[in-house]
Amino acid sequence: MSKVELQPPRGTRDFYPEDLRRRAWLFDQFREVARRFAFEEVDAPVVEHAELFTRKAGEEIVEQLYHFTLHDRHLALRPEMTPSIARMVMARAGALRLPLRWFAITQNWRYERMTRGRRREHYQWNMDVWGEPGVAAEAELIAAICTLLGRLGLGPGDVKIRLSSRALLEEVLRADVLRDRPEAFAPLCVVIDKLGKIGEEAVVDLLTDPAGAVRLAPGAARGVVAALGVRSLDEAAQRVPAGSAAVDDLRRLFELLAAYGLEDRVVFDASIVRGLAYYTGTVFEAFDAGGTLRAVCGGGRYDRLLETLGGPSIPAVGFGFGDVVIQELLADKGLLPDVARAIDDVVYPFGDAERPAALRLATRLRAEGRSVDLVLGSVKPRRALADADRAGAQRVFLIGPDEAARGVARVRELAGGAERDEPLDP
Ligand code: HAM
Repeated sequence: MSKVELQPPRGTRDFYPEDLRRRAWLFDQFREVARRFAFEEVDAPVVEHAELFTRKAGEEIVEQLYHFTLHDRHLALRPEMTPSIARMVMARAGALRLPLRWFAITQNWRYERMTRGRRREHYQWNMDVWGEPGVAAEAELIAAICTLLGRLGLGPGDVKIRLSSRALLEEVLRADVLRDRPEAFAPLCVVIDKLGKIGEEAVVDLLTDPAGAVRLAPGAARGVVAALGVRSLDEAAQRVPAGSAAVDDLRRLFELLAAYGLEDRVVFDASIVRGLAYYTGTVFEAFDAGGTLRAVCGGGRYDRLLETLGGPSIPAVGFGFGDVVIQELLADKGLLPDVARAIDDVVYPFGDAERPAALRLATRLRAEGRSVDLVLGSVKPRRALADADRAGAQRVFLIGPDEAARGVARVRELAGGAERDEPLDP
């Protein structure tokens, strides 16, 4: 038989114990922040009905779908969690007490072109608020992201949250180039989200493509790209009529963020539009200050997603925070912890005769809640002690013929080397 391929499929990862410890550490950080913000954890299947994801706005995420037909059912691995959350909310829409604050840590699948920080499988920490139309929800979510960044040791100089509003961009464009074609707005956002990746000329080409969904005149397309260069809210406000609701919301949001003490963490950036079609209002992404990595996280308001899936109208806002980019950034900065294995005790019987006493001792210690490695085979004492040390154990219980005869174990504290006898059956 030919040998199996040892690497997992390209873009996916194996998690050996040391990798999984680090992942668990990161997920613990996510969970702890979610707990402090009183969000409840949810989950959903990794395999969904494909139609939940197949929107028609030209998004990359739809082109990258892992999908298949099985017994006449068209299924897909989830590329993101938001549609599943929307489905769950819709299924219980009448019974849920709004606003909801839900979080999830999910594995997502996208058949990406592989570049740094971009994989075909990644985990995401999602936090979403359903049923709150005001920007207090956005502020709370951004505060949660900043709390996490702070816990990881990343200050305002390391990561900035860039935020803008699709509603603002929509007001600008509807007053102008999209006056007669409001339906072109979502696909236009999908195109201009690519600006950082493909550059101005390629974006203008897509915006003016006669076969595309946007079909702007070249001058109009260049105007749109120029508008994205705005980096101050005051300047952006001059481009819309006075009394703009989108500008008022953004001003209020920046005020709230200042009240959280986060003014040095967030900046206005008109070029942030996000690549998913469902966003309707505030949009934000966090980037490393060095600008070398893709977004650490991204999110925004998506007040109409439930309606587009055939459900009632419930406003929603949230974000997804990936596990890949943040680990690269932490590694670059020397902030990624080396999470050691931590077991409490090792129980070491010298031979088969001592094994029954050893396993009774291990069972008692486990019942007390300790993590106990019972040495299984016949191992030399030096090796057993070295293994215990490597595993980060605190104590080793040695049971030789002499100890067994006296009804004790010899306990060695690995930190100081102190030894004493402890009765096997107290
Ligand atoms: P997204 O921007 O597609 O948004 O993904 C959120 C984050 O997940 C990204 O900023 C990035 O850190 C990470 N990520 C995405 N794709 C990959 C990949 N191929 N490899 C590694 N990391 C990746 C969403 O998915 C929205 N559903 C977020 C959301 C929740 N909006 C509202 N609620």
